[in-house]
Amino acid sequence: MCGIVGYSGQKNSLMILLDGLRRLEYRGYDSSGIAIKDNDKIYNRKAVGEIKELEAKIGDKQIEGNVGIAHTRWATHGTPTEANAHPHCDCQGKIWLVHNGIIENHQKLKKQLQKEGHKFSSETDTEVVAHLIEKYYQGDLAQALKKSLHDIEGAYSFVAFHKDEPSRLVAVKKGSPLVLGLAEDGVIVASDVTAIIKQTRDVIYLEDEEIVDINGSNFDIFNLANEYKKKKAMYVDWSIEQLEKNGYPHFMLKEICGQPETVTDSLRGRLVAEEGNVKLGGLDNIAKELNDMKDLISVACGTAYYACLVGEYMLEEYADLSTKSIVGSEFRYRKYCFNKNSVILGVSQSGETADTLTAIKEANKKYITTLGIVNVVSSSVARATTAGIYNHIGPEIAVASTKAFTSQLVTLSLLTVYLGRIRNMSFPMGQRIVQELEKLQEKISKVLENEEKIAGIAKKYYQVPNFAFLGRKYNYPIALEGALKLKEISYIHAEGFAGGEIKHGSLALIDKNFPSIFLVPEDSVYEKNLGNIQEIKARGGNVIAITTEGNKEVAGIVDEVIYIPKTLEMLTPILSVIPLQLFAYHMAVIKGKDVDKPRNLAKSVTVE
Ligand code: G6P
Repeated sequence: MCGIVGYSGQKNSLMILLDGLRRLEYRGYDSSGIAIKDNDKIYNRKAVGEIKELEAKIGDKQIEGNVGIAHTRWATHGTPTEANAHPHCDCQGKIWLVHNGIIENHQKLKKQLQKEGHKFSSETDTEVVAHLIEKYYQGDLAQALKKSLHDIEGAYSFVAFHKDEPSRLVAVKKGSPLVLGLAEDGVIVASDVTAIIKQTRDVIYLEDEEIVDINGSNFDIFNLANEYKKKKAMYVDWSIEQLEKNGYPHFMLKEICGQPETVTDSLRGRLVAEEGNVKLGGLDNIAKELNDMKDLISVACGTAYYACLVGEYMLEEYADLSTKSIVGSEFRYRKYCFNKNSVILGVSQSGETADTLTAIKEANKKYITTLGIVNVVSSSVARATTAGIYNHIGPEIAVASTKAFTSQLVTLSLLTVYLGRIRNMSFPMGQRIVQELEKLQEKISKVLENEEKIAGIAKKYYQVPNFAFLGRKYNYPIALEGALKLKEISYIHAEGFAGGEIKHGSLALIDKNFPSIFLVPEDSVYEKNLGNIQEIKARGGNVIAITTEGNKEVAGIVDEVIYIPKTLEMLTPILSVIPLQLFAYHMAVIKGKDVDKPRNLAKSVTVE
């Protein structure tokens, strides 16, 4: 993995492929490569590092060729080297392919192919497939690829071409995303719609085990049983501006500062204040299942998982619903006591995270109703779930998730009102939540006014190697998310704790060199939090506090204070996380880190 672009059409493919790769940069990668059919030759270049290194290798060379493939790689098998970068080819340099995913039985296949005389030039699992296709090739690339799939175990999306089949590109997917873009001049195939929308907005999402056979502007889609599939294109309404920085130095800052608007986008058309309720059209088809639901199990990874933890507090307190959250990678391997009235909720910005998707598929096998909270329309999680709620916040580009997180919290609060109102939630309670949701845009804007102050705090603390993040109840998951943000982009060690838990061991870490960031809004656990702050101060620890506007008490005890406006307790996380996002951002900027593309990480992890 990580990013795939392929093109076959009337235009010169080089610029289309490079533009696609640049648009996929946000996903994180460590090397890249390109292969283009240039008359009867193959033009191939690879580079370690950023796309500009690849561009430097290509230089001013005029490359003809209307068919090509390109890839950004995020190392899984083999270090980031030119040899390991995609595209990979067979022994004769005729079959070229790019791949996302993992071939689980690659070692066994490689040994077998080596015995049969194939010579390998990389350490990757991907190269095995180029040689497998070579083994089965009898003049028809699609048929050879199909035969190879019988031998392969794992998750994949491939795009391949053969030197002797002039304008043909063949692609297939299973467990890793692939989208076709239908432009006037040709067909572009990519792992992510962001790589396509400059060329066209008409796209087709491929399903698992569908093969697309592209010839210039024509294409056919088949399944493994050779049955022809007729698929309708859908229109993507993301704008190019949404994909650009619009004057911000980094996508992450643009996305943090855009939260007043994105939160509003997630609420648009969904609040019905006069009924103390919300409208969620995406849930209509499972109204009965939601009525009968006895418990909800949320599944997600990373930041989305922390959103689910906040959701647990919301749904239990206001919707009287037993809820638990499980990280996607654990779901399959634990035994859970589901019943026929359980519902599984997958939360995922990209809708492509393999661990989350696998959990949803596992639930589908058990005939459990599945729901999704997803940003990317028609992504794999959206398609695999029975019903769902879209975030509607446009593309999130920075690897560290920010606007998707606040939108997930907003969406979970909408779900809380929806489920609460079909259970015990009163009309006035529903109305209060709805009215508070309406005020979020203005309140988030107020929190963002603290940016300069937060940048100043980051300047004071940027050399500190460890941080503790603490909070209770609704703000406990926010402590976990604050620590994750700092780790992800500034590479500073940070741990999140439940405020009351630190005294059971981790307090031993605290001294004057180990500061804490404490979430202490005026809520139902405020007094208890004050007690924990005193414990830290008594051990010489510095404390940066996030508290409610107008509060004087906290300021009297701690070293730095950041204020957030008052809101309902269940909605405080939507405000309190923003100073932590800004803090992580400014720490990373001062330390000179690559904010949008942190080392070792990928935006959407499509392998388990
Ligand atoms: C990756 C990203 C995280 C993200 C997680 C879940 O690990 O680096 O920022 O929170 O995936 O992503 P999803 O798209 O499923 O929300």
